[in-house]
Amino acid sequence: MMHYPPGPTPSRQELLKFAQNPLTYLTTLAHQYGEFSYVKLGNRDTYVVTAPDILREILVEKADKFQKPGHTRDSASRFLGEGLLVSSGAVHQRHRRIMQPLFTRSALEPHAGSMLQAVQAMTVHWERCTEIDAAGEMMNLALNIVGSIMFGVSTLAHDQSLRTATSVMQQYSGNTLVRSKLTALTEADIQSAVDTLDGLVRGILERPHDTPGLNLVTLLQTAVDPVTGDRLSVGEVRDEALNILMAGHETTAIALTWALYLLAKHPDVQEQVTAEVGQVLGNRPITSADVPTLTGLGQVIQETLRLYPPAWLLGRTPVEPVTIAGYPILPEANLVISPYVIHRNAERFPDPEQFLPARFAQEPGRFAYVPFGVGPHVCLGQPFAQLEMVITLATLLQHFRFSLPEGVEAVPEALMTLRPQGGMRLHVERIGTSVELGRSHE
Ligand code: HEM
Repeated sequence: MMHYPPGPTPSRQELLKFAQNPLTYLTTLAHQYGEFSYVKLGNRDTYVVTAPDILREILVEKADKFQKPGHTRDSASRFLGEGLLVSSGAVHQRHRRIMQPLFTRSALEPHAGSMLQAVQAMTVHWERCTEIDAAGEMMNLALNIVGSIMFGVSTLAHDQSLRTATSVMQQYSGNTLVRSKLTALTEADIQSAVDTLDGLVRGILERPHDTPGLNLVTLLQTAVDPVTGDRLSVGEVRDEALNILMAGHETTAIALTWALYLLAKHPDVQEQVTAEVGQVLGNRPITSADVPTLTGLGQVIQETLRLYPPAWLLGRTPVEPVTIAGYPILPEANLVISPYVIHRNAERFPDPEQFLPARFAQEPGRFAYVPFGVGPHVCLGQPFAQLEMVITLATLLQHFRFSLPEGVEAVPEALMTLRPQGGMRLHVERIGTSVELGRSHE
């Protein structure tokens, strides 16, 4: 017989309340019904998980019993094919084995220079500004970084057709739970975006490989499965390249935007981190070897991802009937895991709403802090994102001070990622004059 974890009495209001403000809704549910609750959202059995041990059971121990929810797979298929973001089981394992070695910390270190160049190119026009649109700047930066490392195109954000195609892919693949909030796309928009992005990948694959290692698409084409010795097909390389483009820019851009906001809001923390950056780097540009030394900056990034995890909702659905925490769960059910709610547990993170980077002087519990997920689907790009975030923030703090314009108080908006509603304006002021900055590399 079916029995369910505690939850609200079934009512049509629940889906409405969730859609209106998912963050408040999920937080309230966890407060009222505990760390594993059940609610009918529309006609969907929905289980909301915030308990670290149940999260481990789903994402690690019984990971092979789950896949990404059907709406994610369906809505993503035109662009993402059977790439890592949507696949599961044997296909996922094979692709992951082939791709993993390209995304380790040491494999990515040679790309630190491209990341730095993109930051320097961005700040050329900051010299003349007193205020920036931090959300827009970080989005362009992250697009240019993933574009140059993945595709060897260093100005992806400024190429109108690629920019449009990427944004159409982002909207199309958006979580259907919140899709109504997004602009409606026509079939012509979608086809044109698919053609543009296919053309980008095909162009790279057809180029003679005179410079091995120039971009990750080329490396993906020659990467070998350590178990079977086979390679990805051309179609699979295309799918994975678009998966990386999709997964690899908005999340990092949003994390950087929140970090700048929190530093602007907490000038004392900004001063400490700027001092650390000054001590470690002086006036010289950062290299990947500096990353582990910048511990204060590392803690700021960890605390930012705790308060505002860009991937605020992870979804799973069982591939067969499964028992979780003693409850039977059927294949059509939706399991909702929210890092945003998990990271606000006051027992594990005292004063959870406060920005206190020093709390990360101690390692948090492995399943209580999950901005990059855990288990076989843990973020492939975590080392990429961490390198990018440290290089960007250290370089910006070397040269600029950030502050909040009068009355700015950011509100998170839970769309596909956790964005600051209405963007993020910040005051920016140049500090120090002796360093050469902002050489354009284009
Ligand atoms: C701060 C930035 C980032 C955050 C917070 C983040 C977060 C996540 C999370 C939570 C997952 C797991 C999703 C799930 O289990 O359902 C994930 C998966 C993934 N991420 Fe990231 N990510 C970030 C940056 C990146 C970057 C820069 C890349 C690529 C360059 C990337 C590539 C991927 C891929 C390919 C997957 C799918 C992995 C798999 O299922 O095997 N991510 N990310």
